[in-house]
Amino acid sequence: MKMSSALSLAKADKVLAEIEEAAKHDFLPIVGPVKGKILAQTVRDAKPHRVLEVGTLIGYSAILIGKELGKNAVITTIEIHPDEAKLAKTNIKRAGIPPKINVVVGDAIKMIPTLKDCYDAVFIDAEKTEYYEYLRLMEDKLLKGTVIVADNAGIFADQMWDYLDYVRNSGKYRSKYVQIGEDGVEISFKL
Ligand SMILES: C[S@@+](CC[C@H](N)C(=O)[O-])C[C@H]1O[C@@H](n2cnc3c(N)ncnc32)[C@H](O)[C@@H]1O
Repeated sequence: MKMSSALSLAKADKVLAEIEEAAKHDFLPIVGPVKGKILAQTVRDAKPHRVLEVGTLIGYSAILIGKELGKNAVITTIEIHPDEAKLAKTNIKRAGIPPKINVVVGDAIKMIPTLKDCYDAVFIDAEKTEYYEYLRLMEDKLLKGTVIVADNAGIFADQMWDYLDYVRNSGKYRSKYVQIGEDGVEISFKL
């Protein structure tokens, strides 16, 4: 690894550690370092060029994903709350990770249909009862082999039952649940 890349990743690690620390006393529903390891490994394996995230909060998971990617990758992340999106932009800038990150401010239900790119990796981590709708809206923008990681598929499985039923039984995805502590993620590959 080049010295400049190592320095850039050290900045990103510092921002991630600060957000993890803040999450200990303020309620911040970040994916966190434990589930984050699985997310990072999934991104490392998939080596995507275009990533779509639904649910930015203050940029923790976008930075975590961005650390795994190079300059040619682009991450688009959607956040409904303008104040959180603003803080996410600041954190992302401070992290200095290689990919370009577009923070889209608005309701994912309205914003996903406006996106022009196709995506080869997706992280869904917003309103749990809307996961199915997000997926259906983005489905024509997903490439064969696209990996989709859906957070909270353990603790909120009842709220996202339609999503889980679809990725497991529609025949359009190969999907598995990965338990991590008391929660888990559903990892699905578009066939
Ligand atoms: C669990 S947090 C995301 C955490 C973030 N992925 C992380 O790990 O750092 C969920 C976020 O989704 C946002 N959200 C909820 N519904 C949304 C929607 N319909 N469109 C866009 N963002 C939404 C919330 O405002 C919140 O910031």
